[in-house]
Amino acid sequence: MKEKIEEYVRQVEAFNAQTLEDLEGFRIRFLSKKGIIPELFAHFKEVPTDQKKETGQSLNALKQSVQHRIAENREALSTAGEGEKEQSDLSLPADWHYQGTRHPVSIVKNQINSIFKRMGFQIAEGPEMEDDFHNFSALNFPPEHPARDMQDTFFVSKDPDMALRTHTSSVQVRIMETRKPPIRIIAPGRVFRNEAISARAHCIFHQVEGLYVDKNVSFAQMKQTLVQFVKEMFGPQAKIRLRPSYFPFTEPSAEMDVSCNICKGKGCNVCKYTGFLEIMGCGMVDPNVLKACDIDPDTYTGFAFGMGVERIAMLKYQVNDLRLYFENDLRFLQQFHSSMD
Ligand code: DAH
Repeated sequence: MKEKIEEYVRQVEAFNAQTLEDLEGFRIRFLSKKGIIPELFAHFKEVPTDQKKETGQSLNALKQSVQHRIAENREALSTAGEGEKEQSDLSLPADWHYQGTRHPVSIVKNQINSIFKRMGFQIAEGPEMEDDFHNFSALNFPPEHPARDMQDTFFVSKDPDMALRTHTSSVQVRIMETRKPPIRIIAPGRVFRNEAISARAHCIFHQVEGLYVDKNVSFAQMKQTLVQFVKEMFGPQAKIRLRPSYFPFTEPSAEMDVSCNICKGKGCNVCKYTGFLEIMGCGMVDPNVLKACDIDPDTYTGFAFGMGVERIAMLKYQVNDLRLYFENDLRFLQQFHSSMD
């Protein structure tokens, strides 16, 4: 065994890898399970007792020198690579570097935030998983309202009821519970509904909620705020139309339409030849909602509104299929650029 070890020591010292594959071959030859070193160790028990000490030491020394040689060679090969890089032609054009673009939903959400921030609204947030009180009860939903049904809402647990929020209106409640008027907030965020996915519906989408509560807040102020928003979002030619509607948490309630920016109000198949498209719900905060949040409805009034971000993005970019926003197809996403963060 002594001679064998000496022969291997010579081989190890003489070894110089030209490539990483060479080096890997060397490693396998000596160190793998069935390699030279484990095999020598396996035969160690056959060495006569009086030679055990000396042979053991030289066997360990061999193993260390193999490991040392591998490390040295690896280092040498990697610095050789660097050397090559240094010599590369710096006058060549740089590698193409893909920078990424913002998602159209983020672009539109940021624009909405920025418009309302300039009008003095603060950004507020709330949890995506809500209890019954914040998503329904405090917002004056009657017990038999269809949104409380398993068919329409993703319940996470029953008794106590927890659900993925079906709208960002829940954030109104969270803010009114913790702050005193004047309150002027918008709450952007994701919402969830148990719906089959189609060109016009999805089980996840984004909303921006708005709330303004103070003394003497009027419907006229709401209308002017929304006109201002629409003109900044869609351009100065944009018009709005308010239609009477119903929401449990507002009284009176309205649906707001914006003039179709595809046909410029003339009528086309997108606006179903009406010249207008619905973009949000709004109204005066119902006194019951104020009461549920410990705000005196005889002293304070407020308006609220809620809009779908995808809906607005669809209008703005003339995209006719909602699914495109969720498929992450780069050919779609790379078409959107924003100067706004
Ligand atoms: N929460 C409503 C929805 O998801 C939207 C909405 C309507 C919000 C009227 C409001 C509002 O704040 O006043 O359909």
